[in-house]
Parts: sequence; C-alpha cells; structure tokens
Amino acid sequence: MQDRLILGQCLFYDADPRTQGPDAVRHTSRGGVLIRGGVVAATGEAGDLRRAHPQATVTDHGAHLIVPGFVDAHAHYPQTAIIASWGKRLIDWLNTYTFPEEMRFNDASYTAEIAARYFDLTLAGGTTTVASFSTIHPESVDAYFTEAARRGLRALTGKTCMDRNAPDGLCDTAQSAYDDSKALLERWHGKDRLSYVVTPRFSPTSTPEQLDALGALWSEHPDCLMQTHLSEQLDEIAWVKSLYPNARDYLDTYEAHGLLGANGLYGHAIHLEPREIDRLAEVGAALVHCPTSNTFIGSGLFDMGLADRMRVGLATDTGGGSSFSMLRTMAAAYEIAQLRGVALHPAELIWRATAGSAQALRLDDKIGRLDKGMEADICVLDLASTPAIAQRATRADTIWEALFPTIMMGDDRAVAQVYVAGTPVSG
Ligand code: GUN
Ligand code: ZN
Repeated sequence: MQDRLILGQCLFYDADPRTQGPDAVRHTSRGGVLIRGGVVAATGEAGDLRRAHPQATVTDHGAHLIVPGFVDAHAHYPQTAIIASWGKRLIDWLNTYTFPEEMRFNDASYTAEIAARYFDLTLAGGTTTVASFSTIHPESVDAYFTEAARRGLRALTGKTCMDRNAPDGLCDTAQSAYDDSKALLERWHGKDRLSYVVTPRFSPTSTPEQLDALGALWSEHPDCLMQTHLSEQLDEIAWVKSLYPNARDYLDTYEAHGLLGANGLYGHAIHLEPREIDRLAEVGAALVHCPTSNTFIGSGLFDMGLADRMRVGLATDTGGGSSFSMLRTMAAAYEIAQLRGVALHPAELIWRATAGSAQALRLDDKIGRLDKGMEADICVLDLASTPAIAQRATRADTIWEALFPTIMMGDDRAVAQVYVAGTPVSG
C-alpha cells in the first residue's frame, strides 16, 4: 500500500504534561504524519516530510489540528439507546433504565444494530478506541468485537457478570460467568486489534463466589485487563458495606477475591478512603474518571490529584455519561476540577483523552500518541467548527488558546476527519 502523508497543525507528546508541564506536548503549526501499513512511519515538519517522501499520497488538512484518536477508557455500549434518561441516581437509574435495556441484548439483531450505531457515534466524535462493558449475554461481546473488527478498530470489552441484585433475565451464576467469560476470552483476546477484559459489573451485583470465580479467571490470564466500578455514589458504598460486612472498605471486596491488581481498571473512584488510595497506588492499578456521568447521575467530584500517584484514564461512561464525545468529556473534566479549585491545562486534557487513557488500558505502546511505530489512529480537529468557537479562536495567541474553545464548546462538527489504522473513515 502506498505511503500516506497527512499535513496540518500537529501535537506530539514528549512526556506527561501533568508531571512535566504543558511544554511536554509539542505543537508544530505546519507538521505531518507519514503512515505506512497502518502505522506511523515518521512525524515532523511538513516540508521535511514532503522532501523525504516524494512518492507519498498527500492529504493537506491546512490549519486543522492533527491529534491521536481519542481513547474512551470506560463505556457501556449497550446503554446507547438510554443515554440521557431523566431523574434518577445510580441504583434507581440502573433498575429503571439500564437493566431493562440490557435485557434486550438477548436478541442478536438488536445487539448488532446497537453495536453498529455505537461505533458510528463514537467514530463521529473522533474516538478510535473504547473499553466497553457488554451485557451478561455472550452474544453482546460477539457483536461488539465483530463490529469493531469490521471497521479495523482497536477495541476492548468483556461480558458483564452479575449473579444477584439484578432481574432474573439478567443474572448468570458464578460458574456460567467463569465458563462464558473464558470461552469469549479464548475466542477474541488478541485477535485482530481486540482485547478481552474480565468484567464483574460491581460488588453489589456479584456474590462473593462469583467474584472468586472471576478472580481465578483473571489469575489464569494475567495479561488481560479487569474492569469494574468502585465508589461511585455514597448510597452504593453503604450498600456494599451491608453486603460485605467483613470487608475493610469497597476496594477490599475486590481485593479479597483476587480482583485487585496492576491490570485492574476501576471506574469512577470518587469517594475513596485513604487506605484504598494507598492500596491502588501500591499495586499499580488504574482509575477511570467519567466526568459527564459523575455530574449527570449526581455522583460527586473526582480528585484529579490522584493522577500524581497512579494512572488515570478519561471516559464517557455512556449511558450514565451524557455524551459519546470525548471533547465534551474533557470539558466536564475541566469543570469538575474547577469545582475543586484546580484549572486543568488544555495540554493535560487532550493528553488524558488520548495517551492517558491508553496508559490506563496498558496500550500506550500502540495507541494514544503520534510517534513512529504507533498505530495510525488519528483525529483531525477543526478549531473553528462553529461561529461561536471561530470568533473565540481568532483571538488566540497560542495553540492552547486556540484549542481550549474547541475542548469546551466543540462537538462532532469539530471532527474534520478520522483515520483508523491509517485509513480515512468515510461518512
Ligand atoms: N455501576 C454499576 N453498573 C453501572 C453502570 O452501568 N453505570 C454506572 N455509571 N455505574 C455503574
Ligand atoms: Zn460504568
């Protein structure tokens, strides 16, 4: 296949801007990315790349900004059709909207329809990798991976396991959760660009026996990630305490059953106790911040300062989250940090929506950065996509002033082009 050279403004990451400062994200106003065989072959100044690769097919994106494709580190694709459901907090929201919708995923054609719709929506927003929960139905994992593979996407999911406190039609058992998860893992993990994730929904919907079974499965496949929820709402934490009276805290309900580890991904993690923070940092686990969900369901204000001690990814948590867009998600992360008295720099926001989430997913050697050898998943942003953003951006003296209005006010209209493994996504 012929080399492809895409030109425009570019952001290249030298390091984590949270620890190294915003200059760790390097801006080039006339840069480029050379793509060969789906992978980034070179990056640099546009003129240099043109001279060095005269045979390459050139796509010039002009003043648009070339960034890595967004990485959504926690979502529920089966909740696509119930996004923005009114008026409930977590437990009532699950019972009223989520569980009835997830029961529909025993229907293969509905499952395939939602999987296709989900990837249409996320790609339109510039998201090229999602780590999603599926439902308890193995077919929901098959549908997600089949659709992702058809589009050439890097994608992660797992069968969501629940054997109590959910409707009958939405419960498995400790044994079937183990057996079905294992079969799915063997079918999909490492195939194409797909990764299986061991997925207990959260402690309240699993018996200790089920958590044990999934802990055993994870220990047999330690290279897999394990994803779940942790300390999202105060009512939920009180419920966990009543269901697991011997646990020291919420995290201990996972730890006691082999579900705490360096490849663990813990969504929300808002109301953590000091011991939980210390343990998560000690084992090298990752947290996932889901800001639009945390405001929408009324959960609380995540402490981004935790990123000084452990990896923190950024995520939509659709349909608890109120948007499929990682631009909107960055904006909500900014707003939540402001409510805690901290202004997150745009360099940190864009880094966290790409490289930061890739780190959380342990995929930072493959995605999340535009660098030689990385997979060429790319999002091209129009920094003047609406009149409101354009009039604000004309005042910008720096790339950060130019980008911030798009982070705060941008939507799918700001996504001018998406490349998946170097191929432009049409539509
Ligand atoms: N906790 C357990 N399940 C869920 C879910 O589907 N969404 C959110 N936001 N929290 C959860
Ligand atoms: Zn979630």
